[in-house]
Amino acid sequence: MERTFIMIKPDGVQRGLTGEIIKRLEQKGFNLIGMKMMSVSRELAEKHYDVHRDKPFFGNLVEFIISAPVVAMVWEGEGVVASARKIIGATNPLSAEPGTIRGDYGISIGRNLIHGSDAVETAQREISLWFEETELSSWEAALKTWIY
Ligand code: TYD
Repeated sequence: MERTFIMIKPDGVQRGLTGEIIKRLEQKGFNLIGMKMMSVSRELAEKHYDVHRDKPFFGNLVEFIISAPVVAMVWEGEGVVASARKIIGATNPLSAEPGTIRGDYGISIGRNLIHGSDAVETAQREISLWFEETELSSWEAALKTWIY
């Protein structure tokens, strides 16, 4: 089953959007299989955004991510990588469509609330960077436990 890495950035947490973001992904039908609120080390933030290392915004981006706690999550479901990107919306919130998370709640590209992996391979890399396999739950097992 496909998995993606989602991070609610410090601005999303501080604006009280954690519940709303989880709700949107949950109601779409995806399964939350791992979640932790955490302060991010500089090393992890730099590794996560390694592809942007030479970009002019890299320094500010890393400072922002390590400035306050984030909520890191792994979501599972068919087509979850691309679908979560649609639910999140365009990188620049001013260009993001209404109905998307960034389109509904954001203004600034440097404060765009949430990260979602951009491809299946990227998702695998990011999940292994942020989570141990033992921190991820099997949704099937959980369903069986409390439904039956
Ligand atoms: P990117 O991977 O291009 O976007 P996305 O998060 O939609 O996958 O960029 C990573 C983050 O870098 C982005 O969420 C916000 C920040 N950023 C800037 O601050 N300025 C910029 O011009 C760009 C392109 C990104």
